[in-house]
Amino acid sequence: MLEPLESIARVREAVAAARGSGRRVGFVPTMGALHEGHTRLIERCRAEAGLVVVSIFVNPTQFGPNEDLTHYPRTLLEDLRRCDAAGADLVFVPTEATIYPRGRSATFVEVPGLSHMLEGASRPDHFRGVATVVLALFEIVRPDLAVFGQKDYQQQLLIRRMIEDLHVPVELVVVPTVREQDGLAMSSRNRYLDPAQRKAASVLFRALQHARDSVAGGERDANRVRQILDRTISLELSVKLDYVEVADANSLESLVVIELERRAVALVAAWVGSTRLIDNLILTE
Ligand code: PAF
Repeated sequence: MLEPLESIARVREAVAAARGSGRRVGFVPTMGALHEGHTRLIERCRAEAGLVVVSIFVNPTQFGPNEDLTHYPRTLLEDLRRCDAAGADLVFVPTEATIYPRGRSATFVEVPGLSHMLEGASRPDHFRGVATVVLALFEIVRPDLAVFGQKDYQQQLLIRRMIEDLHVPVELVVVPTVREQDGLAMSSRNRYLDPAQRKAASVLFRALQHARDSVAGGERDANRVRQILDRTISLELSVKLDYVEVADANSLESLVVIELERRAVALVAAWVGSTRLIDNLILTE
């Protein structure tokens, strides 16, 4: 079983040794509660790197005051087993004091252009917390490449923007969303759903598929595609929509017209009971 490392110095030592022997360093940052989706991220990292580092840190600065920080699932032993089986070499499990030696409100990284719409509209400080912890983790691990999931679509765009703007020497690899048989995107939060909610939650992917089919069938009016998303999700009475959006896949600018030469993405967020789920699908492929 992999031994979790808590100290920055030990992580840096292992990374330096790997680099010294000519190995590429790959990194998969996570908040634990790992599932099949994370397995794919680690496997992809394994395929591309000679040293695979996974971090497990439930980052407090990306949770809002009324969010699920204290109840966020913590399953370290299972997570270590999964990391091992997926091919990780090293698992960094820092404490809060290690990551934030001066407390939670010291230096922050802001990516304003991508932080305040969609997920950021109802979670105002969320992306500031994400960008800050990811840059701190990059500084600790100094990876050559980092692997993120497409499921957190806005997050991976924001990390790409931060990497570009701050000249961070990390290659970003984005892995397609892993889904359950009925299409529900895998997420650590799915474990909060009871069986009826779990069944209802699959409407999100069905709605995204209807949206994509309508574009494939010639629909170019982004508002009509939003209506398809909205109406499909509204059929499931236990699912409460937060937002649906049809946006430019690179800038997240809201679209009026869908043009096949400009990649478009549909994004949805909804509450199923007290669990908030998100999903997305590229419409123009
Ligand atoms: O996607 C996540 O699990 C988190 O947002 C991340 C990237 C590990 C930062 O805490």
